[in-house]
Amino acid sequence: MNLKIAVLSGDGIGPEVTLQAKKALYAIGVVYNHEFVFEDAYIGAIAIEKTGKPLPEQTLNLCRNTDSILFGAIGDPKYDNDPTAKVRPAQGLFKLRKELGLFANIRPIKAYPKLMNSSPIKKEVLEGTDFLVYRELNGGMYYGEKTVNEAGTYATDLCEYNEEEITKIAHLAFKAAQSRRKKVTLVDKANVLETSRLWRKVVTKIAKEYPEVTLNCLYVDNAAMQIILNPRQFDILLTDNLFGDILSDEASVISGSIGLMASASLGDKHSLFEPIHGCYTKAKGKNIANPIASILSVALMLEHFGLSAESKKVIAAVEKAIICKVVTVDLNVDSLFGTNEVGDFIVNYILNEGDLYFKRDFVQIGQSTIV
Ligand code: IPM
Ligand code: MG
Repeated sequence: MNLKIAVLSGDGIGPEVTLQAKKALYAIGVVYNHEFVFEDAYIGAIAIEKTGKPLPEQTLNLCRNTDSILFGAIGDPKYDNDPTAKVRPAQGLFKLRKELGLFANIRPIKAYPKLMNSSPIKKEVLEGTDFLVYRELNGGMYYGEKTVNEAGTYATDLCEYNEEEITKIAHLAFKAAQSRRKKVTLVDKANVLETSRLWRKVVTKIAKEYPEVTLNCLYVDNAAMQIILNPRQFDILLTDNLFGDILSDEASVISGSIGLMASASLGDKHSLFEPIHGCYTKAKGKNIANPIASILSVALMLEHFGLSAESKKVIAAVEKAIICKVVTVDLNVDSLFGTNEVGDFIVNYILNEGDLYFKRDFVQIGQSTIV
């Protein structure tokens, strides 16, 4: 397969983790005979610096004309700490999501057996957790009208949804549930919000088209608690843009590190894959950021293009790195491995899985010298 991929590595640790993901994809190309062509473009704070815009036309045009997008992270404390800033890095991402119609953001949440101790949640609670967050990505409070009065003492953010937006993501969620444990949990705040009542009405109607799938509805405050109390109960968690943003960060605690969390953003024509962790500016350039979220985003990309064996290979390589303790400090405080070394190990595994080296127990030591 030939794929042209736009690489928007962005800000903070974005470039260094995206580099590892590119390496993994390249290695998959070598092993399975695919041609992946990468083209880099600016987005976020770096794009503002270079062009004055968080999403330059050139970047948007590139993304419209590629098969897929590999995204890093955006953001810079310079903007976060300045409420008067008119141009912000995140606007680039919002515009990209909207312009490309990327309406469904899918975030897998999984408890890795080897990492149960990295999570503050008890092992008995975590065991067997495996669910997908389906976050609506083109509507809600992110895109509603925003106002602030002249004195800067009053502000509003409008939350809007229409039936069509809810319908589109709901169908995707039910379809995903059909091939999993057949359960959709709609998370909303229907006891308070009109938009949530619309979500319930629309999703309940759509559920009738999927009789083998069970629909549950949970208020978001209760869902926030249930995710920590009993995460195994979820299969597909369907929710709006803002709730999905918040709950997916919360759910990342289950896996042991937000540095493991990948995501896919899908539309009718386009697709974008990104780690959920953000720019983590403090770690920039230190070779300590976990590249696994970005590498697992590549696995989601491969799966999306029907390259299942390739996707499984990437996941196997990541799992091997975890088993061998070739991980960054977020997963092992004593680790001597950095972003590059973890990436190299994963690439090596993809290229040379059959080698004796990977079959030998001593890789277990986490003091390996190959990387
Ligand atoms: C995410 C991020 C973004 C969001 C930020 C960077 C604007 O938190 O993708 O979850 O809020 O959507
Ligand atoms: Mg977020």
